[in-house]
Amino acid sequence: MKLFVDTGDIEEVRQAADWGVIDGVTTNPSLIAKSGKGFKETVLKICELVPNGDISAEVVATDYDTMLKEALEVSSWHPNVVVKVPLIEPGISLVKTLSDRGIRTNVTLVFSVSQALLAAKAGATYISNFVGRVDDMSDDGMTAVEATVRMVETYGYDSEVLVASVRHPLHVAQSIAVGAHVATMPFKILGMLFKHPLTDKGLKQFLDDWNKAGLSIIDAKA
Ligand code: E4P
Repeated sequence: MKLFVDTGDIEEVRQAADWGVIDGVTTNPSLIAKSGKGFKETVLKICELVPNGDISAEVVATDYDTMLKEALEVSSWHPNVVVKVPLIEPGISLVKTLSDRGIRTNVTLVFSVSQALLAAKAGATYISNFVGRVDDMSDDGMTAVEATVRMVETYGYDSEVLVASVRHPLHVAQSIAVGAHVATMPFKILGMLFKHPLTDKGLKQFLDDWNKAGLSIIDAKA
């Protein structure tokens, strides 16, 4: 499964890239606004830090003609830019146009399998199914992800199912369990994936035993 980090913060991208386990970065208008930096400048820096990753940059217009102009603009910035498009009527038409031109897309704000079907039929590269925002409403966000993975596999669509709005490591474990292709998450959640108390406890025990025995790797005597 691909791991993306969901951020507009360059330092977070830099740290995540240093770990060597991320396959891309997703941004959205709120994250870019929060970064306090320009959109193009931020996207280009992210492309530099994650040279082999897919970097999602979202259009903000809601009419087809302006969305198309914005899509062509952001996709001209770097070959790794994936145009992020909301699941609205002109958005789906735009995804079809871009897909016919070989421009990759990430359809965002998807909450149901029937919405996901429209994205898949239009040729979306990624379908961003939000889970946390549904869980926040006392529903189970992962149900639609599971149905979407099944839909894509049953009918042989090329789209990859991207789990978005991830709130905690259990969402990541559930994404793996339902066979999602990608999970994108805030930097904080990515960092939490490292953590297990038995890892800390076990490492302390190993090192205490090693040090008590006075052993060394670099200056090993025998
Ligand atoms: C996805 O690409 C979105 O940017 C993101 O996952 C939204 O997450 P939120 O619901 O925590 O804002």
